Amino acid sequence: MAIVAPSLLASDFLRLEKECMMLNESEADWFHLDVMDGRFVPNISYGPMIIEFIRSTTKKPCDVHLMIVEPEKYVEDFKAAGADLISVHIEACPHLHRNIQQIKSLGMKAGVAVNPHTPVSSLVDILQDIDFVNLMTVNPGFGAQKFIPHSLSKIRELRKLIDNWNLPVLIEIDGGVTLENAGDIMAAGAHVLVAGNTVFKSTDPKAVISKLKSINIPVTEKF
Ligand code: DX5
Ligand code: ZN
Repeated sequence: MAIVAPSLLASDFLRLEKECMMLNESEADWFHLDVMDGRFVPNISYGPMIIEFIRSTTKKPCDVHLMIVEPEKYVEDFKAAGADLISVHIEACPHLHRNIQQIKSLGMKAGVAVNPHTPVSSLVDILQDIDFVNLMTVNPGFGAQKFIPHSLSKIRELRKLIDNWNLPVLIEIDGGVTLENAGDIMAAGAHVLVAGNTVFKSTDPKAVISKLKSINIPVTEKF
């Protein structure tokens, strides 16, 4: 069964509390929270203050995706705001190992996010230190983009690496996930499905979440 992490970026911010309640009542596993700085990505979203409000509405794990430069300056703030998992971008972190250690030392799960052009092989020397990979299947910065088809072979390659080394690392897929492609994504070896527009722009978000969850591929029992 997939771990489903709806992305609040696509939610209605005027009704944020109601959107969070909907997720609480749904089968969603995590809240996926996209932080953008207008520097690493060409868009600005929200920061720790909004996440603190969201955190107060839920007991579900909050998965914070940092699309920002110099994440080390803010990781403690996101911990204080209630983050349970944090991913940082390999492309934004010249001292990635240090970033990962910082996240873990604060008691959070640590993930590395990779852009569509970044090869899976670039993860080889960090894979043993992390809890999950956020494999971006669109260019980060915006919701509602189309899934890049080549990503399926990247998922397979990464899953092979993880299984060969028997590592407890989850593969999270972020960007352009739909009810149509979720089966292929899971079959390629993913564990976690992030979905923004597919969930929040639907007329029945809870039913969509249930459908995403019921895609029947085993997931390693890590979280
Ligand atoms: C993109 C974000 C994604 C985004 C996904 O930069 O990291 O999490 O919200 O949105 P959809 O599912 O609409 O592609
Ligand atoms: Zn994201």
